[in-house]
Amino acid sequence: MGASQPPIAPGVNPRRRTVLIIDDEATFLDLCRESASTSDCDVRTAITAAEALHIIDRRYVDLIFASAAVCGLQLIRIIQENHPGIKLVAFTVQGVPEMAAHALHEGAIDFIERPFAVGDFQEKLKQWLGPDSPCSPSGLVGRSQSMQKIYNLIQTVADREFPVVILGETGTGKELVAQAIHLSGPRKDGPFMPVDCSALPPTLVESELFGYVRGAFTGAEQDRKGLFEAAHRGSLFLDEIGEMPTDLQSRLLRVIQEGEVRRIGSNKAVPVDVRIIAATHRDLNQAVTEGSFRMDLYYRLNVFQMVLPPLRQRKSDIPLLVAAFLKKHANEIRRITHVSPKFWTRAMAYDWPGNVRELENMVERSLALGSGTVLTDEEESLPQEVQAGRSQRLATERLGVLEKQTILKATQRARDSS
Ligand SMILES: Nc1ncnc2c1ncn2[C@@H]1O[C@H](COP(=O)(O)OP(=O)(O)OP(=O)(O)O)[C@@H](O)[C@H]1O
Ligand SMILES: [Mg+2]
Repeated sequence: MGASQPPIAPGVNPRRRTVLIIDDEATFLDLCRESASTSDCDVRTAITAAEALHIIDRRYVDLIFASAAVCGLQLIRIIQENHPGIKLVAFTVQGVPEMAAHALHEGAIDFIERPFAVGDFQEKLKQWLGPDSPCSPSGLVGRSQSMQKIYNLIQTVADREFPVVILGETGTGKELVAQAIHLSGPRKDGPFMPVDCSALPPTLVESELFGYVRGAFTGAEQDRKGLFEAAHRGSLFLDEIGEMPTDLQSRLLRVIQEGEVRRIGSNKAVPVDVRIIAATHRDLNQAVTEGSFRMDLYYRLNVFQMVLPPLRQRKSDIPLLVAAFLKKHANEIRRITHVSPKFWTRAMAYDWPGNVRELENMVERSLALGSGTVLTDEEESLPQEVQAGRSQRLATERLGVLEKQTILKATQRARDSS
């Protein structure tokens, strides 16, 4: 198909793009066509899979919207195999996350749940048809509105030099976002140096950050560059900055203000050109009020704040994330083609206090524990006797609660009758 296309000369306006919409309901197709009329594109519709393939073989199609329920995943697979250049967005049914997951597994780039508002459809059309469709940088997965906002913010701050503070619960992707900011900006070819202020004892954080000269303290047998110097012309990611001891905070502030660093035990100033990106799961404002975080450093760092949404507030991203983690952790022994309904039920009902990291761990564990081509809930993949043991334990726990209730009721009755 691509070979029959005339090459587009530089500077010549590219041809109008073509969108193909596939569904077996004529009225639905009419509605889509009408909604798409605001976009500058040619819209084709097909009511059967055969008709769709006929169109695809004859004209250059840029984007396809296809109903996963009607056309089946087979059509998606055929299109992906024969025309890998065409982007395909699946229409799925609200409340049936496995449909979205299967479509993504077959190669769809995105999905839109039916019923949808006309605006949502137009938004998707714009997103995937535009040459500058927002892509998720640095391996970030998710197309929920809150993640789209994060991608836009990443682009906004990437080109500027001011510090950024990333806030969010554990496992929400703070480090990934920090990396994305670095990789989307002019320092992308420079180093990205992460330092976890909570993982090291305070003295080590100091020598890690600023380096030392030989003889500065016992054990300093040779000069060592700190991470500030190592991050020169790149970015320094100060993870869990809220845990940094206050005396180190003032030292950090000085380095940021002066743009030069002194190794421990040395008076020589070394100029450093470093962009600071910080992250914490703590409320820094409150830490300032409590006196555990210096106000001057807070104001210096907090030029721009980004708050990452917890996974429970963007559950529509779960199918995309599961698909991505299945790909990431796939091994030679197991190839997953389906996800069990119980897995979805549990994944969509759960609150995910550990956020994306917890979801990733769950997929990884279920992959490791289970067998066959279906991804199952961890519980399902446990051997029978372990499952039996679990339900027995649960039953006794329930019995305990019942007993307590009976005692309470009996006491109440006794009190009432006295
Ligand atoms: N949007 C996302 N898309 C894909 N993977 C993600 C996303 N968010 C987080 N992850 C994955 O989840 C894990 C945790 O992410 P990350 O380390 O960035 O979180 P964090 O907010 O820094 O957590 P913590 O506060 O515990 O350090 C990583 O394996 C990361 O790859
Ligand atoms: Mg982290």
